[in-house]
Amino acid sequence: MSNPESRAFSGIQPTADSLHLGNYLGALVNWVAFQDKFECVYCVVDLHSLTVGPDPAAIRERTRRTAAQMLAVGIDPTRSILFVQSHVPQHTELTWLLNCITGFGEASRMTQFKDKSSRRGSEGTTVGLFDYPVLMAADILLYDAAIVPVGEDQRQHLELSRDLATRLNTRYGEGTVIVPEPYIVAATAKIQDLQDPTAKMSKSGNPGGILELLDSPKVLAKRIKSAVTDGETEIRFDPAKKPGISNLLTIYSALTGRSIDAIVQEYQGKMYGHLKVDLAEIVVEAFTPIRERTEQYLAEPETLDAILAEGAERAGRIAQQVYGRVADRFGLLPPRRHTTSHASA
Ligand code: TYM
Repeated sequence: MSNPESRAFSGIQPTADSLHLGNYLGALVNWVAFQDKFECVYCVVDLHSLTVGPDPAAIRERTRRTAAQMLAVGIDPTRSILFVQSHVPQHTELTWLLNCITGFGEASRMTQFKDKSSRRGSEGTTVGLFDYPVLMAADILLYDAAIVPVGEDQRQHLELSRDLATRLNTRYGEGTVIVPEPYIVAATAKIQDLQDPTAKMSKSGNPGGILELLDSPKVLAKRIKSAVTDGETEIRFDPAKKPGISNLLTIYSALTGRSIDAIVQEYQGKMYGHLKVDLAEIVVEAFTPIRERTEQYLAEPETLDAILAEGAERAGRIAQQVYGRVADRFGLLPPRRHTTSHASA
């Protein structure tokens, strides 16, 4: 593969039937744009989703649905590599090597782990959940990725990936791996929940608080109409004092490409209801073609599987090479091809 200095990597979990607006604005929009600038590798991280223990039929179905939505938003498999994490075994192999240079305390400080494990208690918390950020570092380092487009909630995990990459280069020599840079767009890095605008929009959040890419126009309009705002009437951008209205303005601006100032000007003297009605139309217009294209991909599972098979082959070629380089530096004896048969002599 050509120039690793310009390679981008990112991943998304298949933990729901539909992706949501936070995934779309915080990640997918940038992934699509990156295709003009970088060699892109995008992954459905099914192994990560096992840490929340979904049932096997759901994970199989959601892996396909997630890939279909990635294609539907504009990930182009003739330009980018699109594949499923478990199809490339080097992800788990590199995770083991990274496990052996990751501090227990360092992994224990990950806030997502602390939040989830405190909710589940020590018996309900798996070693997989603890190791989640190390698997994520392996995903990134395995492709010599220089840049990783993500939302704000992944910042700390990216810091760990950078620390581990730097450690590898210090211990095993420069050039062992590339130290990746996060790419987080401030304006859309954290889309908030519509029902609780102080919390991020999330698959595990309040169902009324998320806008799903595959929702019907009716559901989308209803959710936006019932979005929590505040007791005032003035439309103005103030995330600290007016988180609900500010979140709606952020979404409006991101989907139309217009500045927040221009939108606020336009709605001077109007009611929150006006803004909501117009925003519902904008969201429906943006999501409808995505939903229709997703349905087309899902109606042709063979085409989808063929795209993922080709993606896994292309990803596997890079992963094999990078893993071989790192394993060699760790001192693991390279496997040799068996040529003459001693056993039969
Ligand atoms: P995941 O599946 O939770 O989310 C996928 C992407 O969507 C972004 N995102 C948001 N952005 C803005 N506002 C929101 N409310 C919002 N909710 C989600 C996430 O930041 C993410 O970019 N650990 C990762 C998956 C992963 C990964 C990787 C990412 C595994 N390996 C390697 C990058 C590189 C995750 O759980 O994403």
